This record gives sequence, structure tokens and C-alpha cells, in this order.
Amino acid sequence: MKTEINKIDKQNIDIKVIEKAADIIVVGGLVAFPTETVYGLGANALDENAVKSIFEAKGRPSDNPLIVHVADIEDVECLVREIPTKALLLMKKFWPGPLTIIMQKSKLIPDIITAGLDTVAVRMPSHPIAIELIRAAKKPVAAPSANISGRPSPTQAKHVIEDLFGKVDMIIDGGDSKIGLESTVIDVTCDPPLILRPGGITHDQLIEVLEDVKFDPGLSKSMDSKTKPRAPGMKYTHYSPKADMSIVDGQLEDIVKKINQLVETYMEKGLKVGVLATEQTKFGYKDGIVLSLGDRSKPETIASNLFKSLRELDEKNADIIFAESIEAVGVGLAIMNRMKKAAGYNIISA
Ligand code: TXA
Ligand code: MG
Repeated sequence: MKTEINKIDKQNIDIKVIEKAADIIVVGGLVAFPTETVYGLGANALDENAVKSIFEAKGRPSDNPLIVHVADIEDVECLVREIPTKALLLMKKFWPGPLTIIMQKSKLIPDIITAGLDTVAVRMPSHPIAIELIRAAKKPVAAPSANISGRPSPTQAKHVIEDLFGKVDMIIDGGDSKIGLESTVIDVTCDPPLILRPGGITHDQLIEVLEDVKFDPGLSKSMDSKTKPRAPGMKYTHYSPKADMSIVDGQLEDIVKKINQLVETYMEKGLKVGVLATEQTKFGYKDGIVLSLGDRSKPETIASNLFKSLRELDEKNADIIFAESIEAVGVGLAIMNRMKKAAGYNIISA
């Protein structure tokens, strides 16, 4: 398949490109586009065949449902049985933005989107290119992250090109995705509502609006646990770099000491060793390919660099990666959730 790549300046959107992309969606094609979280791979959510081609392009397991993206709160009505009061409160507070809300689906939603579940995930992104595209297509847009299944999610058009060139009709390059981690997923069909995937909108922000919100118990368990996560996607190995990755946990000083020892040991064996460090520690490493994820006092910076750095270490042919653990509070919780998956739950105590 021929893939057209178009660059758009998000401050000055070229409407002709948007219209062309929207036409592709209307006729059942695939368009990768930027959102504020990660790049999405979009198709008309109401067209079963188009949605099928998303699964094919990504190599995504068919039991993993997709998020439907809208451009206005009013567009949600026809997609769900009803909009629960709690959902409406969340939409008013956090949309457009990195929050996906699970509700009971309407008959309009094809089963392929929800992997046969009777609920549907809906999100209104805040990225101007995403919004313009959905508006121009006049369709709800199904869009998973625009990566090959299992790879780190794309935060730049370059990452999408690496994974999906030749498999989609158009890739819109709109620069870096600011947040860098996928949206928070909250299920409001249960009481209390459950966070199925931590993300940019934190538990603290959610309880300001809903008072009682819990985490899906399936989230805290490791992969071989019997408690299944409610979001089918959370059970898969994910975000994996090609290298073997481990997280090193403990006091910060001990972490640096331990990683230095590990780097030495593996370099002696002739392996290329990557280190995911932070601004606070990056000068403490003697050897290896050291990347700083960001500033520990500003976890948003770490979130925005994580996936990019995993791909960068792949490019540099790292054989093995050691990552410093991050404090799992606020956005840090989402960071550690993605890191643990990337590391296949390999954690070394310092
Ligand atoms: O930030 C994001 O959410 C990005 C951008 C492109 O919007 N999209 C994204 O989509 O991350 P994806 O497909 O990579 O992740 C969707 C997650 C999966 O874990 C999936 O299992 C879960 O949402 N999900 C979707 N529908 C669901 C449903 N009805 N019930 C439970 N979980 C659901
Ligand atoms: Mg994904």
C-alpha cells in the first residue's frame, strides 16, 4: 500500500490535508494522526471493514477493544445507551483531554470495536489536528496507538513511519505528542468507577470530581496473576524494546550504584548496555548508553520521554537496558505501569 506522509503545523493547520485525510477515513481507509497523548491509527468507527484493517495493520489481537474518538460531547450520545451523570461530570471537567471513559455501548457500535464487550471506550482528544480531522470526517474515529502491537507507543511521526509505513494510507506528522503516555481509562459502568489504565489524568484529579474512584485490582498484579485486568489490553506484554529490560528499585543512591555494577558486568560480557536515568542521576554513570528520561521533580517530563527513549535504545542496538524506578505517585504511577510492562515485570532491588 502507498503511504502518503503529510506534515501539518498545529498552529496553522492546512485544511486541505485535513480534508484529504477525512476523505480517506470516510471511504474506509487508515490515517495515523497526532494526539496529545500518543499518535493514533484512525478509521471510521462505524465501518466494520475499516476497523478490521486497523487490527490487521497493527497485528493487534482481536480480543483487545478500541477507543472511539469524538470531537464534541454531543457526539457521544449516539454511541452509548445513556450518558451516566458521572461520565458527564468527567467529560465537562477533563475533555478535550487524556481521559477515556467506558460506558454501555449503543447498537451503532460494531462488535469488532468492543471485542464483543457490551461497553465502549470513548475519548475526546485535545490535539487540534485530531479534533479537526474527526470534525472533517463527520464520523466517530476508532484509534488505537499507531504502533505495531507490543512495541512502545509512538510519540513522533517518525515512530509511526518505522512501524506502519506501507500499511496505512496516510500518516500526518504534527510534531511531538506532548504527554507521551496513553490516556487514563476509567470505567463508569461499575460502582465505584474503576481506573483501568493509569495515565495523564491522575487518581487525585478524578476524585476531585467523583469522590470515590478505585484502581482495577487486576492492574497491580503481575502478568502471570489470575486476576484479569478489566481492560483487555492491559494483560498483554507491551511497550517492549527489543533489548531485555529490568527496572532497578530502591534508594536513589543505591540504584545508581547497582546500575553501575550491572553495566560493568554486562559490558565485560561484550553486550551493549542502555541506562534510563534522570536529570538528577545522569552524571553518576561511568559507562553505557545513558539517556535521561527527565526531571524527577517534574514527572510529566519523564512521561513525555519514556517511549521515545525506549525506541532510541533500540536504534542504538542496546542488548540490555536498566531503568531507574520512579516514585509511583501521580503521573509517576502511569510511568511505572508502562515501565513494568516494558520490562516484563523484571525488577531488581538495589
Ligand atoms: O491516549 C490514548 O488513549 C491513545 C490515543 C491514540 O487516543 N489510544 C490508545 O488506544 O491508547 P489503545 O487501543 O492502544 O488502548 C486502548 C485501551 C486498551 O487497553 C483496551 O483494552 C482498553 O483501552 N479498552 C478499550 N475499550 C474497552 C472496553 N470497552 N472495556 C475495557 N477496556 C477497554
Ligand atoms: Mg496501544
